[in-house]
Amino acid sequence: MKITKAVIPAAGLGTRVLPATKAMPKEMLTIVDKPAIQYIVEEAVASGITDICIILSRGKGVVEDHFDASPELEQKLEASGKTEVLETVRAISKLANITYVRQPAPLGLGHAVNCAKSFVGKDPFAVLYGDDVIMGDYPCCKQLVDQYEKYGLGCVCMKEVPFEQVTRYSSLKVDHLENNVYKVTDMVEKPATPELAFSNFSILGRCVLPGEIFDILADLPRGAGGEYQLTDAMKILATTQGMIGVDFVGTRYDMGNKLGIMQASVETALKHPEIGEGFRAYLKELAKSL
Ligand code: UTP
Repeated sequence: MKITKAVIPAAGLGTRVLPATKAMPKEMLTIVDKPAIQYIVEEAVASGITDICIILSRGKGVVEDHFDASPELEQKLEASGKTEVLETVRAISKLANITYVRQPAPLGLGHAVNCAKSFVGKDPFAVLYGDDVIMGDYPCCKQLVDQYEKYGLGCVCMKEVPFEQVTRYSSLKVDHLENNVYKVTDMVEKPATPELAFSNFSILGRCVLPGEIFDILADLPRGAGGEYQLTDAMKILATTQGMIGVDFVGTRYDMGNKLGIMQASVETALKHPEIGEGFRAYLKELAKSL
């Protein structure tokens, strides 16, 4: 079955990036000239997604404004002959059919995804975490969609993290299938000690799930940190029917922490057609004094 729907949870508080995120959602923090969430929506669209549900919370209406048409701005740009930027602005509101659902309280990723239940219905769908920007020629979400189409099982993006850090992420029990593709048979969210981890493969930023996940989420107890953890729901899928893990190709930037935000900005600026050259020269000069 073709996957055309995606959910982007973007309702978290972003406490690790305060004070920037006091009034501005972390998903709207810019990487050179686009907010993080636009890179994520573009990745979804490049993966064949046509319908997107963004999960928001109080104070995050600016996300809706960003993907909406902006008649006054467009008229002004048209009148002043700024056609290139006008096209850029117009294209944003035509990227996909985007709907918004509010998560009433930040009760965790599992709870956020469950808020999209009526949007998704019974179809398989992709989840792209709103603060994980993944760049690369082969869109990360497409890597999962392709494996879902091949194996017919829920899929997660994964990467190896340093063993001592696995307690901050999730840990996957995996068997190698082919190339960068693994069978996932169990998982644990934030293992209390590294010894309790299955491996140092952690889920990062993306998954594709069957509609049955909502039956699991409906009965899910609170997990690590008192939150409804999506990993706990996926664990049930992994242990009953198995899931697929894709050691994805691409560069991931964690927009939920300050270092990740700076890495995304610097590396994207270096490749940017307009400012890349100037920024490289500046950085080289600056590096001499470091
Ligand atoms: P995080 O756990 O990284 O986001 O969730 P957070 O809770 O905002 O982070 P900190 O710890 O306070 O800094 C990953 C993604 O899931 C969304 C977040 O907005 C982020 O894009 N999320 C998280 C929700 O939509 N709802 C939640 O209840 C939790």
